[in-house]
Amino acid sequence: MEDVLQQITQYKKEITEFTSADKNIAETFRIKYLGTKGVIKSVMGEMKNVPNEKKREFGQILNEFKLFAENKYQALRESTVNRLQSTVDHSIDLTLPGDALPLGSRHPISLVRNKIISIFQRLGFAVAEGPEIEDDWHNFTALNLPEDHPARDMQDTFYISQNPDWMLRTHTSNVQVREMEKGKLPIRIICPGRVYRNETISARAHCFFHQVEGLYIAENVSFADLKQTLYFFVKEMFGQDVKIRFRPSYFPFTEPSAEMDISCLICNGEGCNICKQTGWVEILGCGMVHPNLLENCKIDSNKYSGFAFGMGIERITMLKYQIKDLRLFSENDVRFLKQFTSAI
Ligand code: PHE
Repeated sequence: MEDVLQQITQYKKEITEFTSADKNIAETFRIKYLGTKGVIKSVMGEMKNVPNEKKREFGQILNEFKLFAENKYQALRESTVNRLQSTVDHSIDLTLPGDALPLGSRHPISLVRNKIISIFQRLGFAVAEGPEIEDDWHNFTALNLPEDHPARDMQDTFYISQNPDWMLRTHTSNVQVREMEKGKLPIRIICPGRVYRNETISARAHCFFHQVEGLYIAENVSFADLKQTLYFFVKEMFGQDVKIRFRPSYFPFTEPSAEMDISCLICNGEGCNICKQTGWVEILGCGMVHPNLLENCKIDSNKYSGFAFGMGIERITMLKYQIKDLRLFSENDVRFLKQFTSAI
């Protein structure tokens, strides 16, 4: 029996120091010590050689040894499970798709401006641009608004304090003058851009906004051409069902002049607070180019005639997307801007 006890002490030492290169270390241990042909079983076999009076004591030693081996086995299993789990936690799954880069979206004013431009481009209009700081001649005088003309009050102008002849343009008509001065005819242009007026900021007005103006000058241009062009534009922009009407109006640069209304898209012409219960909303001003303008730009008004029109992009965008407050366009609130993701 002494031999066996010595053996057990030796085994215990072995068990404490047990290691294996096998990644299934717990199973290797189990087979060696706890298996049917393992160490524990063979030590148990010694029981029959133990004298009766010692059986009880030996039994206790054996049980304690078995428990010792079982605890070690348990510890080995837990450590491999933990090791496996920790490999899972810290490893990188290369098959996972990456995080998509957040994409910005186009500003609604840009979307609508691009749409307006593409419609007129299909009719042969070219885009022309010009300065936002303009002199009196190009913003007013050449457009048939001499210095003391009362219509200058229609557009509250921001003047540049260093030079009373300079101002922030109140419309993109300045670009039309610059194109006419180049003297290359015929002219068929649209002029998108930012304009400035000294207005109190509210849901319906701002001190800057965006316009697209158009100009067509050639021989024999008539009001019918103007109407046809604008009809085409409105149907392409708002759909075939929208209704259109012209109202006589006044602009110093055109004669005759008109304003164009479309049937209200919000209430379908039935009357709401957007259209002020009329069923119609005004979207642009237009008319036949005043002969004085042609002469101011050295174009023979007996030979050439033309039409012009101008619209506010904000107004069209508000109708298109049913936006009720114009200030949203310049506040840069992402919650507002991110809603306009696709081209129109
Ligand atoms: N320039 C005008 C405005 O800013 C718009 C317009 C352009 C009207 C051309 C008629 C013809 O209000």
